[in-house]
Amino acid sequence: MSYLQIQQLKISYGDNVVLHDIDLAVNKGEMIALLGPSGCGKTTLLNALCGFIPVRSGSIAIDGRNITTCAPEQRNITMVFQSYALWPHFTVAQNIGYGLKVRKWNKPAIAKRVAELLEIVNLGGLADIKVTALSGGQRQRVALARALAIEPDVLVLDEPLSNLDAKVRLNVRHEIKSLQKKLGFTSLIVTHDQQEALVMADRIAVMHQGHIEQLGTPEAIYHRPATPFIADFMGAENRLHSAGLVAHQATSLEKDKVIYFRSSDVAIHSASDACASEGLLLDGVVEQSAFLGHQYRHSVRCNDQTLLADSVRSWPVNAPVRLHVPTPALHIFAASL
Ligand SMILES: Nc1ncnc2c1ncn2[C@@H]1O[C@H](COP(=O)(O)OP(=O)(O)OP(=O)(O)O)[C@@H](O)[C@H]1O
Ligand SMILES: [Mg+2]
Repeated sequence: MSYLQIQQLKISYGDNVVLHDIDLAVNKGEMIALLGPSGCGKTTLLNALCGFIPVRSGSIAIDGRNITTCAPEQRNITMVFQSYALWPHFTVAQNIGYGLKVRKWNKPAIAKRVAELLEIVNLGGLADIKVTALSGGQRQRVALARALAIEPDVLVLDEPLSNLDAKVRLNVRHEIKSLQKKLGFTSLIVTHDQQEALVMADRIAVMHQGHIEQLGTPEAIYHRPATPFIADFMGAENRLHSAGLVAHQATSLEKDKVIYFRSSDVAIHSASDACASEGLLLDGVVEQSAFLGHQYRHSVRCNDQTLLADSVRSWPVNAPVRLHVPTPALHIFAASL
């Protein structure tokens, strides 16, 4: 049986149901990313797990213990917040040891545990500094150490990296991931950054309008999106209707389908090139080419639609081109979905 078991969980604010029958089973030591657009219910799910908001129906169990109606302090789940939520008048060590003091640990035991955690999160030597003197990345590491100090059964993190600048964010992202692997804690991390979810999570739950639309490994979510919403959300920015595809369509496509694919999966050829016989072939004219650093992104007019296609070389505006998308890169759904 799974370590954390969420079954048929329903949450509402007044009459507004914001989580619909959520089922999620998390293994011990696993990191699950909750990914989804703003307002889809990610924070609400974490709050329900922590016991900050009541459950309308359904159940939450950890290691076989039903905690659905337990008070927050009886759950042994800790939350790391986007805003860090540290005590500003406390030192680093006092912040990290706070939960242990509340649990009536003695001073030497707290000091020993805090010293261990300072090493774990790479803040050795900063124990006696006020947290207000730290950078954002350092503060978030204090928040993480404080959460880990009490050895929670489940650690939940609500967009822990979104207040950090891009470079620090990448570092802390890898630090959290390697800590999770080393210490083996079970965790749920909320993000609306797909890259973050792909890098950090063992499995990703993509949420949409209060339900989990797909749960799977990062590879499965990325390469085999289950619905048009997920294909779009995971960056397959090109969308075509099969009815519009008349010429050069080598892969057999049934009627009434929508097809999604990433601009990075499109190869641009000269209009006269004979391309591979599999996949999708589309003729068009380059409308625009933009330099992205590692490659160029082109807008290509194909019939009445503009598609995006990436290439390491820049194709001139007005050049007639032939686009090829290999079959595995095509995400095809019934148009009615
Ligand atoms: N305290 C509240 N009272 C009433 N409605 C709320 C409350 N908190 C959240 N909601 C509603 O519940 C829905 C889900 O909100 P939630 O904060 O869980 O979204 P989220 O996925 O965390 O979004 P974001 O990415 O913006 O943080 C939203 O429609 C929101 O308006
Ligand atoms: Mg939120």
